[in-house]
Amino acid sequence: MNLNIAVLPGDGIGPEIIEQALKATTAICNKFGHTLSYKQALVGACAIDATGNPYPDATHEICMQSDAVLFGAVGDLRFDNNPSAKVRPEQGLLAMRKKLGLYANLRPVTTFEALMHQSPLRPDIVKGTDFMCIRELTGGLYFGRPQGRSEDGNTAYDTCVYTREEILRIVKLAYEYAMKRRKKVTVVDKANVLATSRLWREVAKEIAADYPEVETEFMFVDNAAMRLIQWPSSFDVMVTENMFGDILTDEGSVITGSLGLLPSASIGVHTSLFEPIHGSWPQAAGKNIANPLATILSAAMMFEYAFGLMEEGKLIREAVDASMKANIRTADIQIPDAEPYGTKEVGDWIAEYIIRK
Ligand code: IPM
Ligand code: MN
Repeated sequence: MNLNIAVLPGDGIGPEIIEQALKATTAICNKFGHTLSYKQALVGACAIDATGNPYPDATHEICMQSDAVLFGAVGDLRFDNNPSAKVRPEQGLLAMRKKLGLYANLRPVTTFEALMHQSPLRPDIVKGTDFMCIRELTGGLYFGRPQGRSEDGNTAYDTCVYTREEILRIVKLAYEYAMKRRKKVTVVDKANVLATSRLWREVAKEIAADYPEVETEFMFVDNAAMRLIQWPSSFDVMVTENMFGDILTDEGSVITGSLGLLPSASIGVHTSLFEPIHGSWPQAAGKNIANPLATILSAAMMFEYAFGLMEEGKLIREAVDASMKANIRTADIQIPDAEPYGTKEVGDWIAEYIIRK
């Protein structure tokens, strides 16, 4: 198969982790006889520096012409420390999601046997956790208008907006996934307070009626945050709006070991995008200490979701598992008393494992 992908390393640790994911991708292509061609493009702070725009048209063109986008992270301290900056790196990511129509962000929260000791929770609580959070990605507070400040600067506002159509397509997707899994959907909202959440509930109830085999559970987001640390294995498919999903999946990722492990796939109208859920960690940039696994696992999702190449994705997962079992781990997940490996060394080991297999 011909794999034509766009590679967007972004900022901070983005370039280093993407380099490792590309090594794994290349190794898989060589092994399975696929040809890989990719174009690199700018997004985030590096794009602002080069063009003034965090998601330049040239980058959008490349994404539109590709079969998949592999993305690192955006964000830079220069902007984090300057709340009055008019143009921000994160706007590049939001613009990319919006323009590519990527309304569904799939974030699988799973446990790794080799990382049980790493969880802040007791092993008996974490054990068996395996759920898919489906986060709405192009609506809600992130995109609702008006957003801004009053003239005197003393009042600020964001607007949460959802249309029936936006809710319908993502909740439907959640039920479709549930049908392929353990047939349970948890709709997370704040329907006791928010009008948008009440619309979510209304629409979800209508869709639930079309899937009688699926058990539906409605849960307020505060309760879900609690349940996630009390009984994470009770979730199968969780579907929720943009910001709730952002917050709950960071929580989900540390439960299973490290923020450096959770991959994601964003799917929708145009080219799908694959990215780790963690950020750009600018303090670690260039130090060869960042964990590349979430990005490598995002490449596995790319093979599966964008190209339907399941064996290829599976081998990447197997290589990631093997690296952890062999304790070839970066500092965030290394076992006590063992030397941590660098970003690059973990990437090399995984690529070699794939080739040797
Ligand atoms: C994520 C990130 C982004 C988000 C930021 C960088 C805009 O936290 O992908 O989860 O909030 O969506
Ligand atoms: Mn986030």
